[in-house]
Amino acid sequence: MADMHWRPALPTDLTPIAEWVESSKALERWAGPGLSWPTDGPTLWREIDGGGLPSFCLVAEREPVAFGQLVIKGERHYHLARIIVSPAHRRRGLGESLCRRLLAEARQRRAEHVTLNVFTDNQPAIDLYHRLGFVEQGAVDTRGIQPMQLRQFVTDVDNTDL
Ligand SMILES: CC(C)(COP(=O)(O)OP(=O)(O)OC[C@H]1O[C@@H](n2cnc3c(N)ncnc32)[C@H](O)[C@@H]1OP(=O)(O)O)[C@@H](O)C(=O)NCCC(=O)NCCS
Repeated sequence: MADMHWRPALPTDLTPIAEWVESSKALERWAGPGLSWPTDGPTLWREIDGGGLPSFCLVAEREPVAFGQLVIKGERHYHLARIIVSPAHRRRGLGESLCRRLLAEARQRRAEHVTLNVFTDNQPAIDLYHRLGFVEQGAVDTRGIQPMQLRQFVTDVDNTDL
């Protein structure tokens, strides 16, 4: 997509993003347990700490088409979170662009260790993370959540072709 750009997320971005999530199950798969359902933009922004965590969007024609966050887990340890692509724009490589951008942001912040969590039945997400170099790390928990870690930072991580 030629006219796409990357920027910090705004509270107003969460209003269209809330509409990408069709059920409480989908909300949990995307953003983890414990969030309100039904939801809306202001509620989501507050509950996922959009103002506190580094939060970013890919934007096309002023509308967000993908969103993700970085959670600081420790010194030089970042966690990719709340990765989502608009349903209308999936399977075009945006998930990969989004994650590469987030990894570049983490690297700019001097990350050496990057992790994420994924439900074991979320095959599109697992395939994407494997492509990016994430590997399973440790046991699946009772909710079916698999922790993953980035094997190593690839040197071209900030060559983010959009
Ligand atoms: C997981 C998710 C972010 C993936 O986003 P995406 O933009 O579809 O990801 P990509 O396009 O980079 O890759 C997905 C697939 O599209 C394929 N693809 C990539 N570019 C393509 C193109 N130009 N044409 C056709 N297919 C393409 C990829 O090969 C991949 O195929 P595969 O699933 O057979 O391996 C998206 O499905 C999503 O938002 N899911 C809901 C929220 C969620 O579960 N988030 C993860 C929380 S852990």
